[in-house]
Amino acid sequence: MTNLPRKILVTSALPYANGSIHIGHLVEYIQTDIWVRFQKLRGHQCYYVCADDAHGTPIMLRAQKEGITPEELIARFNIEHQADFVDFAIQFDNYYSTHSPENQHFSNLIYKSLKEGGHIERHTICQFYDPVKEMFLPDRFIRGECPHCGAKEQYGDHCENCLKTYEPTDLKNPVSAISGETPIEKDSEHLFVNLSNFEAMLREWTGSGALQPEVLHKIGEWFETGLKAWDIFRDPPYFGFEIPDEPGKYFYVWLDAPIGYMASFKNLCDRKNVDFDEFWGKDSQAEVYHFIGKDIQYFHCLFWPSMLTAGGFRKPTAVFVHGFLTVDGEKMSKSRGTFINARTYLNHIKPEYLRYYFAAKLGNGVDDVDLNLDDFLQRVNTDLVNKFVNIASRCVKFITSHFEGKMASELADTALYQQFIEEGDKIAEAYESRDYNKAMRYIMALADRANQYIDTHKPWTMVKQAENKAELQAVCSQGLNLFRVLMGYLAPVLPLMVNQVEAFLAAKVFWQPEPLLAHTINPYKPLITRIQKKQIDAMIEASKESLATPSKKTPPSSVTETISYEDFAKVDLRIARIIKAEHVEGAQKLLRLTLDVGEEKPRNIFAGIKDAYAPEQLTDKLTIMVANLIPRKMRFGLSEGMVLAAGPGKKDIFLLGPDEGAKPGMRVK
Ligand code: 2FM
Ligand code: ZN
Repeated sequence: MTNLPRKILVTSALPYANGSIHIGHLVEYIQTDIWVRFQKLRGHQCYYVCADDAHGTPIMLRAQKEGITPEELIARFNIEHQADFVDFAIQFDNYYSTHSPENQHFSNLIYKSLKEGGHIERHTICQFYDPVKEMFLPDRFIRGECPHCGAKEQYGDHCENCLKTYEPTDLKNPVSAISGETPIEKDSEHLFVNLSNFEAMLREWTGSGALQPEVLHKIGEWFETGLKAWDIFRDPPYFGFEIPDEPGKYFYVWLDAPIGYMASFKNLCDRKNVDFDEFWGKDSQAEVYHFIGKDIQYFHCLFWPSMLTAGGFRKPTAVFVHGFLTVDGEKMSKSRGTFINARTYLNHIKPEYLRYYFAAKLGNGVDDVDLNLDDFLQRVNTDLVNKFVNIASRCVKFITSHFEGKMASELADTALYQQFIEEGDKIAEAYESRDYNKAMRYIMALADRANQYIDTHKPWTMVKQAENKAELQAVCSQGLNLFRVLMGYLAPVLPLMVNQVEAFLAAKVFWQPEPLLAHTINPYKPLITRIQKKQIDAMIEASKESLATPSKKTPPSSVTETISYEDFAKVDLRIARIIKAEHVEGAQKLLRLTLDVGEEKPRNIFAGIKDAYAPEQLTDKLTIMVANLIPRKMRFGLSEGMVLAAGPGKKDIFLLGPDEGAKPGMRVK
């Protein structure tokens, strides 16, 4: 893999064209963009393509709701998405749409090959149909009672209460989420791809090193349960590609979505005169990588290689799967203001801070990534401002004010410079294997060494001693040269800062550069400012605001929203005794509480009260809990309820407790 230059094609998952980009999406785009920039910096021929995922029922319905055509809707989101990406310095070589002639061409071609290869079967299936909207209902547009536990308001395919899966037609008292009507059951003939025809190929490809161990394990489970035939048909009304020989029927969005990777690349090839077959042809020697989230592994690791094989194309070199984003240890939440849109973030904080923070947290596994807001502030201010940029700002002022911007003609410490250069190999390996957290650690360790070098030589003292002028110039030039090496290593993460640095150094930033000697630099402008807590707070507030939908029912400002007495009566408040309270490894704010609620089995819950209470203060304390809350799967385990507390937060949180005499399990009236 070391032959220069490698030919590489990289993709990120295609965002749906009916919603804004948020910081959860950005984990992936930033992860991919860093990798692509790293490959380009190392001299490889690397293309990064993406597109909007423009088809499907939700897009059609949203356009209807807005009174516009789906084409108008997807055009609007395409512009919005591209603007967000540009502002986060995500540099695609092509950003396209799956609603394109190239995509229709490849979708038809792959479908035809699947059919001719005997991989398509026809079955009549029975689905829910909305008699008012006159359409079949996808699972997510059906609500009803869980057939297993009876929980109300559950989706068509799984229950959030008992976590069981089922067929939509098993739901009790189903209603259409679109019209509110009771759906009827209706038959329709669909085409399915017989996935088991590809099992031998899939076993070989998945075992070929194309997947991370955790992903391989998951795929193994799917092989165990058996590969189910895949329904690639959708009935009208649908926004998608009509199937050539099945008028009035459409390809399911997930058929043409991954083909969108190819279509976007084809569009680039046609415009830039790049050889498409060199990347996608059966005998391609190029490398093809897909970066995706763990929720769409099935599509990319089973369906996609099967489609490619049927269509006579090569398979991906690897699929790189990452985990989800949590904020302060929890799922992004609209009410807490942690569901942050890309644009809301950009309105308050510089994009490179998030790029750096994600880089500092990302490894090459599928673990979730936590954006801890306090840590974010600390990490960026410490690493980027205090350590990295500090090297330049401490040296540059002496060079500009005492030497007319001219750097020394020799390195003061060649050995140290050489060590910085040699570390580059290790850093490159870490980038290559997507161990960005490791790369950032290596780079910051070097930044510490550069700062130590400056501390030892004390240019601020030298400047006061006339005889030390030459040494002052040499030490500060050494500092600037070390800084330039580090900027090269950080360039994939901080591409915007590279431009500023190149401007003041009047020199290019490279990976492992030759030192700048007897070189004249330009006046220096500060490269970065510290993040302030108030910027983060404002961003969180704005994220809450952007969701506030003004409604006639909006209550007075001192309370949030009124609820009916019936709604209140549904809340089952119980006295609970805290049997045990413990710290949760990896959680900044949570304590794990084991509660006696008078039931046979104690309850396990996670409460965000760590700043206010030490675990030992809580043992045996009585409190009040919401006992009928739907259990919530958190990163650290299942939380089976909530305890009641009051206060603005942090240290000022007070767990509510009853008077003496109350017993665990008593109902609060
Ligand atoms: O899950 C999603 O957001 C999809 N729009 C991803 C599609 S990726 C690719 F296959 F097109
Ligand atoms: Zn259930």
